[in-house]
Amino acid sequence: MVAQILTAGKRGIHSAAQAIGYGEIVAFPTETVYGLGADVLNREALLKIFKAKGRPADNPLIAHVNSYDMVQRLVQNIPADAVRLMEAFWPGPLTLVMQKRPEVPYEMTAGLDTIAVRMPAHPVALALIEACGQPIAAPSANRSGLPSPTTAQDVFSDLGDEIPYIIDGGPCSVGIESTVLDMTSLRPLILRPGIITIEMIRNCIRSVSNYEYHPQSDEPVKSPGVKYRHYAPKAKLVIVSGSEGGVTRKILDLVSKDIDRGLRPVILCYEESRRHYGADSIVLGSKYRPETVARNLYWALREVDRRGMDTAYAEALSQKGAGAAVMNRMLRAAGGHIEEA
Ligand code: TXA
Ligand code: MG
Repeated sequence: MVAQILTAGKRGIHSAAQAIGYGEIVAFPTETVYGLGADVLNREALLKIFKAKGRPADNPLIAHVNSYDMVQRLVQNIPADAVRLMEAFWPGPLTLVMQKRPEVPYEMTAGLDTIAVRMPAHPVALALIEACGQPIAAPSANRSGLPSPTTAQDVFSDLGDEIPYIIDGGPCSVGIESTVLDMTSLRPLILRPGIITIEMIRNCIRSVSNYEYHPQSDEPVKSPGVKYRHYAPKAKLVIVSGSEGGVTRKILDLVSKDIDRGLRPVILCYEESRRHYGADSIVLGSKYRPETVARNLYWALREVDRRGMDTAYAEALSQKGAGAAVMNRMLRAAGGHIEEA
């Protein structure tokens, strides 16, 4: 099979919705990253998603809806705070984990009694859900472990042989995945940070905290996604953190050692620091605009591999605001490898 790339007009959306109705899986754009969609209630189609991505069977999917009515079809006992958050942030990059209805198949939730739901802020995604008349289950449309796709071409290079259609909606405006918030515990927990920050959520509901995963503890993991190596390029990625001058010196030192060893290193930096490095360094945007860095991050990680580099050194970003989500993805892409300058 070679995936057909559909334009994001009425006809393309109609063909994609029809395919989903027949039990196929189709990639489509959202404001965060491209998703790989299937009918929420079709068990076989859901299993196709896991197979195409090479996704671990215990990692649940997100249901994409375009109305509150669709939430009610999937969720029972919707908490009042969840409704408040939907009103504040939907459509948008916030996913809420709530108690699932019995009709929702366990293939969707990977055996859990909870379901993750969000309303994407993308006209094509919303039109596709409308055309299906049904919520669409979708993880990110990348091969498991690789950076999430932010263009139709990224999807094609990962899954072009596995799926029939990709709707091309151009590059994603947010660039990293939604914030995932667990609403089933007494105190809502952020399972995955995103550009909807903990401060923004705290302004809307009284209590919220960050989930910390302890691989050694006996407690079952709250969000299976956190266990897996993620978003990683094939090149070895290292984050360098510290004072401005220190970071530059450290990176230049690591790069020259690599070159001496016959390796091909590349640097990921910001507009403010690019002048310290060679013209072939990859610029993530201004370090004062974490939203821009988020938009460019997965493109940059994929660019490292497109250039066939062996190693990549990225300057750490301040964890303020959306910077926390960017650093979360960078650290996971680096397998936690951070060097202090
Ligand atoms: O922005 C996004 O969220 C994108 C677009 C396509 O909507 N989707 C996305 O899906 O990033 P995926 O599958 O790559 O990530 C879903 C995350 C995983 O970390 C998963 O473990 C978590 O959501 N998740 C899903 N259902 C859950 C549940 N019932 N309980 C806890 N975590 C859940
Ligand atoms: Mg993913």
